[in-house]
Amino acid sequence: MTTLELRNVSKRYRVRGAGDMLALDDVSFTLTSGQTIALVGQSGSGKSTIAKILTQLERASSGHVLLDGQPIPHRGPGLRRYRQRVRMVFQDPFASLNPYHTIRHHLERPLRLDAVVPQDQVEDEVRSLLARVRLDPDATIDRRPHELSGGQRQRVAIARALASRPELLIADEPVSMLDVSIRLGVLNLLADLQRESNLGVLYITHDLATARHFSDEIMVLHHGVVVERGAADDVILRAQHEYTRALRGASPDPDKHFADPSGRAVTRS
Ligand SMILES: Nc1ncnc2c1ncn2[C@@H]1O[C@H](COP(=O)(O)OP(=O)(O)OP(=O)(O)O)[C@@H](O)[C@H]1O
Ligand SMILES: [Mg+2]
Repeated sequence: MTTLELRNVSKRYRVRGAGDMLALDDVSFTLTSGQTIALVGQSGSGKSTIAKILTQLERASSGHVLLDGQPIPHRGPGLRRYRQRVRMVFQDPFASLNPYHTIRHHLERPLRLDAVVPQDQVEDEVRSLLARVRLDPDATIDRRPHELSGGQRQRVAIARALASRPELLIADEPVSMLDVSIRLGVLNLLADLQRESNLGVLYITHDLATARHFSDEIMVLHHGVVVERGAADDVILRAQHEYTRALRGASPDPDKHFADPSGRAVTRS
């Protein structure tokens, strides 16, 4: 079992001409393999800052990030190995894929860099990754990102994140740039992959309704402070904090039954 822990993490950004701004204030939580935690909060609440600290794109100003109880390396092979185990899926699947490279190139790269499979199995592995994210390998492998739909691009980004066989996935608003009609398909895919590979997933979102349906636990972030956390249903149904109730009011009815366009019902694990 893999555990990733933020312990008493605070983050100050230096803003030119405006002094420091406290983006995270003493945040602690643990993400474990096999579990999905939703991190919910309004714009500017600090969600992406948490994602960046977890993937070491930013350093915490104070506090600790521990993988299986060990501080994570800040550089060198240790950091590479860490990033292999903890992968990020970004919000914008267009910005995160290089328009000049084929899908094959995008998926081969991590396979080769991390030596996931022997050289002569790379092609097969690329195809199997595409199949895992429900893309037709033959129709996809030699295309470039702009020849795919937004949803297909995000599936490629997910396949790329999975290429190194990570244990944990940090998904920062993975569907918010996609057309509403295909969001649930991509979230269902993430949920299936999470179960198949026993991944731990941090699902970052504005949306309490999908947070409830796709997560075991919900954490609510407000101005850099975790103001509420608990089992998904408890947080939604028995919100203690005023802010959570306000978010709930702004969200679609979380009790309504979801169905994706294929007609498949969305169920929580
Ligand atoms: N590199 C930076 N330098 C200065 N301030 C920053 C930087 N990155 C983020 N901030 C500030 O920190 C706060 C939290 O930003 P963050 O991106 O973590 O929010 P978020 O919850 O992800 O918002 P959104 O839902 O809009 O993506 C914001 O006030 C933001 O302006
Ligand atoms: Mg963000």
